[in-house]
Amino acid sequence: MNLNNIIQTEFKLSKDITYLNHAAVSPWPESTSKAVIQFAEQNTVLGATHYPDWLKVEDRLRQNLATLINAKSTDDIALVKNTSEALSMVAYGIDWLPGDCIITSDEEFPSNRIVWESLQDKGVSLKQVALSKKPEDNLIAALDSKTRLLAISSTQYSSGINLDLEKLGKICKQKNILFCVDAIQTIGALQFDVQKIHADFVMADGHKWMLAPEGLAVFYCAEKTRSSLKLNEYGWHMTQDLYNFNNKSWQVAESARRFECGSPNMLGAHGLDASIQLLLNIGMDKIESLLLDNTRYLFTLLNNIPDIEVITPQEGGKYAGIVNFKHKSKDNDALFEMLWNNKIICAKRGEGIRYSAHFYTPKELLSDAVDMIKRF
Ligand SMILES: Cc1ncc(COP(=O)(O)O)c(C=O)c1O
Repeated sequence: MNLNNIIQTEFKLSKDITYLNHAAVSPWPESTSKAVIQFAEQNTVLGATHYPDWLKVEDRLRQNLATLINAKSTDDIALVKNTSEALSMVAYGIDWLPGDCIITSDEEFPSNRIVWESLQDKGVSLKQVALSKKPEDNLIAALDSKTRLLAISSTQYSSGINLDLEKLGKICKQKNILFCVDAIQTIGALQFDVQKIHADFVMADGHKWMLAPEGLAVFYCAEKTRSSLKLNEYGWHMTQDLYNFNNKSWQVAESARRFECGSPNMLGAHGLDASIQLLLNIGMDKIESLLLDNTRYLFTLLNNIPDIEVITPQEGGKYAGIVNFKHKSKDNDALFEMLWNNKIICAKRGEGIRYSAHFYTPKELLSDAVDMIKRF
């Protein structure tokens, strides 16, 4: 099937809406809906009779996630509840010493700030660096001998700025600083390579750019850091010998399964599996190129409206799928309300309005969504 056919078959959004909210919660492709429906029907009629087949789906999902982010092995991949849970696993797994410092930006989504602030009573401080014009340089300048961890979003949820993770990861490696990347606004939108960026930890829920249901996230934990991360959740599923219930002596799994304490989210796994298969079948290189093309198209259209200021940086490499803009003189809350009243599904973030189109979003819809702004 060619790409246009795939897009037509898979994306069946109502013609009544213009969906520009992939940075919030994405619609599901048809194959994801079908996988979830079939799983529900099978549960109704057969219960878990085919559990071994479900485990195969889970294995395939782990393998495909490893491929998607170029992890060395599926052993580096844990399936967890959401991005925030994975961040908490890192925050409460590190053996902090009083005086340790964490560096982050001053524009992180609350999940990537609150979790680090919560470590204050352990004597751990958080420095929030302004990204401004030279984000990577500003972050690097803040790293000092007290820094144990750099925790950063690959793409900021509000401004949409996309960072040079390779540059940051290299410096962290040189300085022996742990590198933790909240990649929920990038994975599924752009190609992503955990090895190239020297990440210790990467986390991303499936419901944004990966086009999957909420409630199942990938947590990448590099082998070199895995055993040093203290565990805070225990149960049968995180043991090395997980199906040997009679074994009274147990050991923690060598792999990142150690972070999965109990029964998996099988329903979510069936959904996420179908979505990831779709992304890989199309190819992340193609998805990235189409998505960036849509982002640039939005930039061009918005730049042509004198009253609109585009907040997202527009230099190549500095953006992904998020386009944030604001009206220079009128009330942006009112503009946002008008857009929603006209079924432009978008978000109000920071000082501006966030449009987030995916690779499959037709250009006509993008120009309609920008034309609507001119009517305000
Ligand atoms: C950058 C970023 N991190 C984390 C989250 C929250 O993710 P989760 O609900 O999977 O914990 C969001 C949600 O918008 C986000 O944009």
